[in-house]
Amino acid sequence: MIVTIDGPAGSGKSTVARELARRLGFEFLDTGAMYRVVAWACLYRSVDMTQAAAAADVAKQVRIDLRDDRVWADGVDVTDAIRTPEVTQGASIVATHPGVRREMVRQQRLLARGRNVVTEGRDQGTVAFPDADCKFFLTAAPEERARRRYEELKRAGRGDLSFDEILMQIRERDQRDSQRADSPLRPAPDAVIVDTTSLSIDEVVERLESHIRRRQTDATTQPSTG
Ligand code: DC
Repeated sequence: MIVTIDGPAGSGKSTVARELARRLGFEFLDTGAMYRVVAWACLYRSVDMTQAAAAADVAKQVRIDLRDDRVWADGVDVTDAIRTPEVTQGASIVATHPGVRREMVRQQRLLARGRNVVTEGRDQGTVAFPDADCKFFLTAAPEERARRRYEELKRAGRGDLSFDEILMQIRERDQRDSQRADSPLRPAPDAVIVDTTSLSIDEVVERLESHIRRRQTDATTQPSTG
């Protein structure tokens, strides 16, 4: 079974997807981490990531491993290195290149083949897994998403950006992610849309889990048409 969760930065989808996967006993696929690895590898190799062909070459060459809650690039643990502001902005740049996207989607489908997976990103329900069993799209007001990010950075002792600066970055990233020509951020027509602005993480997880459990029950009780 494939469950897709898409939505903008700060909508809570990473935390929700991880917890949902744990409860269901499914694997968790963080596809944003894959774009981050490509951006990180471009920076590491001094490749100009605004150049589509060069960035796509890096996407094809770099070996991405997601295991045990860690992220590896060519055997190097880059779990923390891919969370810097520079890589964060870079990821949204490399994600505009069709060649990079094609390669990431190819790898995502390989990773999910024959497995029970909760996959999280921007295009999982629309492009990567259009036939997914359950699709969700999480949203939240930009101010609330900036507030969450601000709190998260403060807790991590990295509170060097003001709330307004974070809000500006979020708006800039939203703009780039939703306006790009290839696979812009948008809900799949059959996605369940959940506004998380005034919901706790737990409430969102509960809502998604009960939806999936209902689907699972329906699938096992429906008479076979074959
Ligand atoms: O979810 P995140 O912040 O880790 O994602 C990093 C960037 O990658 C983000 O700017 C959008 C892009 N991305 C994408 O285009 N498609 C995905 N499936 C996942 C992420």
